[in-house]
Amino acid sequence: MTASSVTVRVPAKVNVQLAVGGARPDGFHDLANVFLAVGLHDEVTVTEADSFALTCAGPGSDQVPLDRTNLAARAAYALAERHGLPEPTVHIHIAKDIPVAGGMAGGSADAAGALVACDALWGTNASRVELLDICAELGSDVPFSLVGGAALGTGRGEKLEPLAVGGEFWWVFAVADGGLSTPAVYGEFDRLSPDAPAEPVASPALLEALRTGDVAGLAATVTNDLQPAALSLFPSLKDTLAAGTSAGALAAIVSGSGPTTAFLCADEPSARAVATALSEASVCHTARVAPSPSPGATIL
Ligand code: C5P
Repeated sequence: MTASSVTVRVPAKVNVQLAVGGARPDGFHDLANVFLAVGLHDEVTVTEADSFALTCAGPGSDQVPLDRTNLAARAAYALAERHGLPEPTVHIHIAKDIPVAGGMAGGSADAAGALVACDALWGTNASRVELLDICAELGSDVPFSLVGGAALGTGRGEKLEPLAVGGEFWWVFAVADGGLSTPAVYGEFDRLSPDAPAEPVASPALLEALRTGDVAGLAATVTNDLQPAALSLFPSLKDTLAAGTSAGALAAIVSGSGPTTAFLCADEPSARAVATALSEASVCHTARVAPSPSPGATIL
């Protein structure tokens, strides 16, 4: 008997290095994007139904589109089309815990989750290569949501090379009041960085710190080239970054295109203390503690 419902758990990500090149002719930017999956998760449940439906619950879910523009819906339609199914007759339910529009790839995670869940539900048995191919069509961050762990993303971020991680790193994520549009942040990057390099490169020191689990080494090397653009569009994030550093975080950066800010801490107790300080300083909507790395899309 085949299952009538499949649930997949998918992780958020932080970019420990986001090196951005100049705009390409197609409008995208070449990246050296060091992704690290973190322990904040959405759960995507796909159930057989008479016609397509999408629902979402959890913090920020009122901002999530429930039509075919949702990346999770597009993932189901893409897999159905490739396998000659007329329409994905499924109900996709997203239980949200990853900050919405926060620069933590929540929408990309939901797409990877829906794809893996539909593949299992329908028995389409798509190969890993085909799943990654569909992910790359859906968005630059979607392949990483499928694989999780840590990886270097090049091209527009979709070409992945897995990276070894030699230990656990603890983070605090300060969720902002409001969101930032990724295209707007890249647009501001273009305005602020007319001399961006043609070929951004990953930092050998950062990759070594990840490989050896060296938190001080990682804290000394984390960078995000989109940070000046995010701060320009959302200036109050400077106060959030400063509050986390004063509270003892080893490093403070904007997560991806923001506006979530990420604080690397020495260990779990330190992360809990930084989260408490950020909440008490009223410099964010919510402060979340999470370890890394975390696995990619996993069927529960
Ligand atoms: O690939 P994805 O749909 O996630 O990208 C969202 C937007 O972010 C793109 O439309 C583009 O404006 C910007 N982007 C970019 N270069 C990348 C990735 C994203 O300019 N490498």
